[in-house]
Amino acid sequence: MLELEHTTKTHDEARQGEALDMLPTGKSTGRKLYIESYGCQMNFSDSEIVASILLDNGFETTKDYKEADVVFINTCSIRENAEQRVRNRLKEFESAKNRNPGMIVGVLGCMAERLKSKFLEEEKLVDVVVGPDAYRDLPNLIGKVDDGNKAVNVLLSREETYADINPVRLNSNGISAFVSIMRGCDNMCSFCVVPFTRGRERSRDHQSIVKEARELFEAGYKEVTLLGQNVDSYKYTAAVAEGGEPQPTVNFAQLLAMVADVSPDLRVRFSTSHPKDITDEVLHTMARYENICKYIHLPVQSGNSRVLDLMNRTYDRAWYMERIDAIRRILPDCGISTDVITGFCTETEEEHAETLSMMDYVKYDFAYMFAYSERPGTLAAKRYADDIPEDVKKRRLTEVVNKQQQHSLFRLQNFVGKVHKVLIEGFSKRSDQDYCGRNDQNTMVVFPVDSRFKPGQYVHVLAERCTSATLMGKIVD
Ligand code: SAH
Ligand code: SF4
Ligand code: F3S
Repeated sequence: MLELEHTTKTHDEARQGEALDMLPTGKSTGRKLYIESYGCQMNFSDSEIVASILLDNGFETTKDYKEADVVFINTCSIRENAEQRVRNRLKEFESAKNRNPGMIVGVLGCMAERLKSKFLEEEKLVDVVVGPDAYRDLPNLIGKVDDGNKAVNVLLSREETYADINPVRLNSNGISAFVSIMRGCDNMCSFCVVPFTRGRERSRDHQSIVKEARELFEAGYKEVTLLGQNVDSYKYTAAVAEGGEPQPTVNFAQLLAMVADVSPDLRVRFSTSHPKDITDEVLHTMARYENICKYIHLPVQSGNSRVLDLMNRTYDRAWYMERIDAIRRILPDCGISTDVITGFCTETEEEHAETLSMMDYVKYDFAYMFAYSERPGTLAAKRYADDIPEDVKKRRLTEVVNKQQQHSLFRLQNFVGKVHKVLIEGFSKRSDQDYCGRNDQNTMVVFPVDSRFKPGQYVHVLAERCTSATLMGKIVD
């Protein structure tokens, strides 16, 4: 899962109002919902479930919070600054609420789960606080607010996967969609708040996942990204009906194959892989299917074994390198990206240098890089002093970012002169004279519009030049 900042790519996805105005699927109440999402792809995917629940309850969506009856903000707690961003945004909602006192302001997601009812005391304008497993209760909670109360539901569940809810595709280009395959995380990395905000890991019924992928394909979508905090530990066993045969357990490699079998024209991506769990079976499955994109996000966090142990990542430097070797052996053209944390508790200069040398070993295609931010309640906050001065964390981060920039450029330069199969996603951000889309390795490719081809089609593009984030070329079909 990627919370997007300090990337070597230029992402602008940290905040998104919903672009489409959608009509209710249930009996209309004439009320309008505005929803805005922060944090990882899972949160964006959850907002689509929330919108689906409210549309079924007679709401329509709006892209302007000022005209909304209900304003939801789906929040992230991963780092201090992610929470700060949400608090700043809530301040901006305040004047709209002053003008329209009937407006309901709701906080959803990870910050809601972390702060619970404390949120109501800290931010007076908030009416409703809802954790990630309680979205089915939203209509009821809104009812309570309508009756003049504040409302909170932050119960976590061991079962909830929202498997039966058909997400409303918000902000969609109609070409690629997220499909959530599991929720929660059981890993307890010592720096991480996610196990506390998202609860225990549970996998979604594989049949509902394949059905969703098939329906997306039938509706014209050409790419699905399977989402989970640790997709490699996906595991689903169907309950046995009375007198029925026990069902075999489906693992991630098998699920990937099932989704890839929907159609050779449906691209399959996934995120996030965990170094301790990614198996050769997954890599061989990727090799077998042309439509499973050759791209793996494999967060390393640190290149030093002692720090990895303190982080409770349960692998060491040698293990991680062996997994990289396996990827290179089985999938020679695979793109690999990572997450790095600098300045974790007690990290020395020598240990930081091992992160840099790990980057040299892998030469990642791109990376998401962060200075360590202590999160209340995590194992690290309880056990270790956050003892690396802020300026040292930042300096180490700069070194990591600079190194990554060289490697991204190196990778993209290697792509120049080659032909890439690209799924056209739409016009490029800069110009409607250009299309953009990604190659197999997840690198953005920009090329002049050719009227023979439309968004949603695959084209072959010869890469002619590059920056450290984008390939530029021309269609050669
Ligand atoms: N499930 C994914 C990561 C989810 S969080 C995984 O295991 O890789 C996304 C990234 O945020 C993490 O990989 C980590 O690099 C970063 N992160 C998490 N907690 C952090 C913290 N307390 N300070 C700084 N970065 C953090
Ligand atoms: Fe957090 Fe670790 Fe779980 Fe990723 S695997 S969500 S970093 S606890
Ligand atoms: Fe995602 Fe942020 Fe929660 S990264 S799981 S939204 S803490």
